[in-house]
Amino acid sequence: TERELVERFSALGVVPVVTIDDPSLAPALGRALQAGGLPAAEVTFRTPAAADSIAELRAQCPDLLVGAGTVCDLACAKAAVAAGAQFCVSPGIPAEALDWCLSEGVPFVPGVATPTEVMRARERGVKALKLFPAQVLGGPALIKALAGPFADVHFMCTGGVRLDSAADYLAQPTVFCVGGTWVAPPTALASHDLATVERLCREASAEVARIRR
Ligand code: 3PG
Repeated sequence: TERELVERFSALGVVPVVTIDDPSLAPALGRALQAGGLPAAEVTFRTPAAADSIAELRAQCPDLLVGAGTVCDLACAKAAVAAGAQFCVSPGIPAEALDWCLSEGVPFVPGVATPTEVMRARERGVKALKLFPAQVLGGPALIKALAGPFADVHFMCTGGVRLDSAADYLAQPTVFCVGGTWVAPPTALASHDLATVERLCREASAEVARIRR
């Protein structure tokens, strides 16, 4: 359910957003995320390898929370769920995909950037939203402003979030987590440099622990 997903994301603080070109990298990547203390992956549908990578992660890393990102239409949502995605995230509100996922019991986190979009998502019964692209939209100041009229929604903030800005987002009571590629940089993935991924995840999970101490 949405609530369980929010609880798991909140516990992590940071959700790694990963773009995988080669599904055979998935198991080692999953182990690096786990070893770094961030046992979750939002696998973006930006490469043809996304569905296979989700399936690999589910099969090889049973303790990892695995979902799909960049889910922009119904076909993508169906492919993601068929591959084993435990949640879907989108940069916007693809109504058909969202409604289908909810009818299947798969939590869907739609992307919003404006008050009207927050209301549109709420009308569909969704209260865990992705603020995207968070940093260019206004960052923590925007979150603060949205909390006035929309005290009942919660945000996963992604887009330009980095280690040094994560704390300011997580300090907002309506933010349940941040997400980003900075803990699994495309350059590191391209060169199969999973030691770097593990180190960046460890740094991020230590920062979350520090903030919450
Ligand atoms: C996403 O899909 O959430 C973003 O691409 C992540 O943005 P980032 O690369 O700035 O972390």
